[in-house]
Amino acid sequence: MKTIVVSNRKGGSAKTTTAVNLATELARSSSVLLIDFDTQGHASLGVGSEASETNGIHAIFHGRTLCETFLPTVHDRLTLAPAMAFFDVYEHGDLGGVLRRCFEREQIAEFFDYCIIDTPPTLDALLKNSLEVADAVVIPFVPHHLGTVAVGQMLRAVYQSASKMGRELADVGILPVMYNPHIEAHQDALQTVRTRFGAGRLFSPIGIDIGLARQFEEGVPVVLGEKRSKGLRDYRRFTEELRARIG
Ligand SMILES: Nc1ncnc2c1ncn2[C@@H]1O[C@H](COP(=O)(O)OP(=O)(O)OP(=O)(O)O)[C@@H](O)[C@H]1O
Ligand SMILES: [Mg+2]
Repeated sequence: MKTIVVSNRKGGSAKTTTAVNLATELARSSSVLLIDFDTQGHASLGVGSEASETNGIHAIFHGRTLCETFLPTVHDRLTLAPAMAFFDVYEHGDLGGVLRRCFEREQIAEFFDYCIIDTPPTLDALLKNSLEVADAVVIPFVPHHLGTVAVGQMLRAVYQSASKMGRELADVGILPVMYNPHIEAHQDALQTVRTRFGAGRLFSPIGIDIGLARQFEEGVPVVLGEKRSKGLRDYRRFTEELRARIG
């Protein structure tokens, strides 16, 4: 099983949109677990479900098993571990390693080819738990100056997690989102990311597509939609690029 964490501390950078479409696209040929680790529960909405009041993924911090939270979704091969809406990470003490221990104890890798984790826009215990199990990290970013700054901050968090855990560094890829090739500032931001973090880390961009925003109303990701759209084409290409990269 490959675990792919979709993360950026910057809010509104299409983490959830990316996690939902990536997970669903992979599920067309593989068995996939989508973990909605953001208590906003938006990834759950994206695959036709809702955050739970009592038994979401965050119940693992109260001693529940990960498997207990599993729900079916809009796709047969896609399983959801939904968010628990009112979990307050700051009410708890040291939460390190809880997700990693669940993965090991419940032998999650035996049941899925991929695990995709959608994370909250904060450097908190939820993000840290996610990074502890990451084989790859995808950082979606809106291409402007603060977007590039956030990518640097996120890369630093990934390095810190690996060095603290004494584990191999996750493969980090950077995904430009809501990209418009006619906007000079967008091109400049991509050039900055290439120079600063290496062209090899950069995925082909996702353009602006209102269908990607509307998919949450229907609970059906665009990659499952009837209509061919720019968003569908871009997320398919991204999924292929990621698969080629991590296997
Ligand atoms: N390529 C796109 N084109 C148009 N709208 C998009 C695109 N990608 C995402 N959006 C919209 O932008 C908003 C933010 O996206 P999303 O919720 O995926 O970001 P996020 O990083 O998960 O946010 P948060 O930090 O709150 O978790 C949403 O309304 C989403 O529908
Ligand atoms: Mg989100």
